[in-house]
Amino acid sequence: MSENQELKRHCLLVPVKGVLLTEHIANNYKAVSAFCPDPSDLLIATYPKAGTTWVQEIVDLLLHNGDSETCKRAPIPIRIPFLENTARLGIPSSLDLLKAMDPPRVIKTHLPFHLIPKGFWENKCKVIYVARNAKDNLVSYFYFHKMNLTHPEPGPWEGFIQKFMNGQVPWGSWYDHVKGYWEEREKRNILYLFYEDMKENPRREVERIMRYLDLSLSDDVISRIVELTSFEIMKENPTTNYTFMSKPVFDHSLSTFMRKGEVGDWKNYFTPEQATEFDEDYEKKMKHVNIPFRTQL
Ligand code: A3P
Repeated sequence: MSENQELKRHCLLVPVKGVLLTEHIANNYKAVSAFCPDPSDLLIATYPKAGTTWVQEIVDLLLHNGDSETCKRAPIPIRIPFLENTARLGIPSSLDLLKAMDPPRVIKTHLPFHLIPKGFWENKCKVIYVARNAKDNLVSYFYFHKMNLTHPEPGPWEGFIQKFMNGQVPWGSWYDHVKGYWEEREKRNILYLFYEDMKENPRREVERIMRYLDLSLSDDVISRIVELTSFEIMKENPTTNYTFMSKPVFDHSLSTFMRKGEVGDWKNYFTPEQATEFDEDYEKKMKHVNIPFRTQL
């Protein structure tokens, strides 16, 4: 079977320690869990579609003093490897990429807290977690499923809401994911960010990340980074808009990777009945934590 045929929505979800992962990532998990980072490595962890690429670009620019040309040196998954990703269609395996890079490295993951390789905690690596409100996250994931041919067919919208609520999607339950990192954030010195805060005041959040990284950049450089990481600029930037990843992996004719980048877009998709059912279920799942999510600004 050719690689292209294999990718035609042949996508099984396989549980790993209670979390559904796509088959190729599940099969790679043993090697990933043995990965030992350097103490200087930085991890960016998110549930898919929470603003990962946005924070990756901010971090890369911060680490390179806002130098946009340096930050166009390669597509974002080459600059900042996606830990659990396997070799496919021209993109090497992230474990191989990481082997060839000298620390300090920046690494992306969607793994929930309990699946993160222990070495990150043993070596006290810095970790940035980005969370996005569940309803916008769900809408974004629905459209991502449509265009990402390595994910299962999302099926109809109504059914996808149920799958999301039940954690029957790649990387499992959104609820467990955001709670897992929230509960560990102080003990592990995790910088816990919100997509909505970044939309509300991107400069404030860029500065927050800068301080966490023990950097001190000039006001002009910070302004430049805020501009370079706006939705509009990143949508046109070929290293961040994922047009480098085209068919048969991403079909941008079905939905673009940089889709809308808004807070409150869920209102265009949820019926009032769906929103009520979702909110009631949300209250039950989130009742023991108080994570200050905002579904509108
Ligand atoms: P939408 O589908 O709602 O547009 P991830 O990088 O975790 O896959 O997240 C992708 C989501 O973040 C998409 O959301 C994308 O548009 C949004 N996004 C990416 N860069 C952004 C930016 N600079 N500003 C706002 N949203 C951004």
